[in-house]
Amino acid sequence: MTALLDELMTRRPDVAFEAELAPGQVEEFRSRGFIQVPRITSDEELAWLGLVYDALFQERVGAEKGDYFDLSRPYDSDGEDLVPQIITPEVRFPELKQTAFWRNGGKLARQLMGVDDSVYGWGHMIRKPARIGGGLPWHQDEAYWDPGFDYRALGCWMPLDEATIESGCMSMIPGSHQGDIRPHRHIGDDPAVRGLQTSPDPAEAARAVPLPTPAGGAVMHDRRTLHMSGPNTSANVRRAYANEWQTRPVARSEPYERPWHTEGVEAFAKRFGDDARARF
Ligand code: NI
Repeated sequence: MTALLDELMTRRPDVAFEAELAPGQVEEFRSRGFIQVPRITSDEELAWLGLVYDALFQERVGAEKGDYFDLSRPYDSDGEDLVPQIITPEVRFPELKQTAFWRNGGKLARQLMGVDDSVYGWGHMIRKPARIGGGLPWHQDEAYWDPGFDYRALGCWMPLDEATIESGCMSMIPGSHQGDIRPHRHIGDDPAVRGLQTSPDPAEAARAVPLPTPAGGAVMHDRRTLHMSGPNTSANVRRAYANEWQTRPVARSEPYERPWHTEGVEAFAKRFGDDARARF
């Protein structure tokens, strides 16, 4: 752990900002599978989160345990990071759970899902460097998760920099959350690449809605909504911080058939050791 990160944790601003849903957004979320929130935290907190974020990526925090990796190429392969991701930074830095972003995300998630306090969150950060940042193909977030469980969950995705079409904002397919998990495969058909992709039919993909989002705004989407983001061809970094909000997963008597998940876990355990399975 770096002195810089420890020092930053002592400087976390206390932010009282309260985000609210607009009238009709619960219904919109349920019918379309996503909504946009103009603002989910304050400028002050955004500035602090930006410093924390930069330090985490600079230090590649968690790389030794497989909590830092590039989504688009095999673990530890040579080359520049194009879509690096950090998983569950709040485990190392619980101060991230004391933010307005965390608090507001949880509050809106409970309202959107229509559930009570039995909701918990976990975070990840995806960074797209200027000009070379990679895109992420169509996928459903639940496709990444353990097929032995049923989930009730949504993602709360916040860019720390304005996300434009050029810098790789998200696109969503309205209504796609209402179906099952589609067949997915690993990018490049290599299970040592964490990123997954699926192929919606062209007519469906043509209905996709791009969602440019200001820094500090948020996109909230169902765990099954089909989404993608393009490459970052702009001159600016596109940093994004997302929290997943979910009720306790319910174990299934028969797991879903999602062979890509099993293959991914095996490749991850091969690189980071058997005890890494639980962190996949
Ligand atoms: Ni996703």
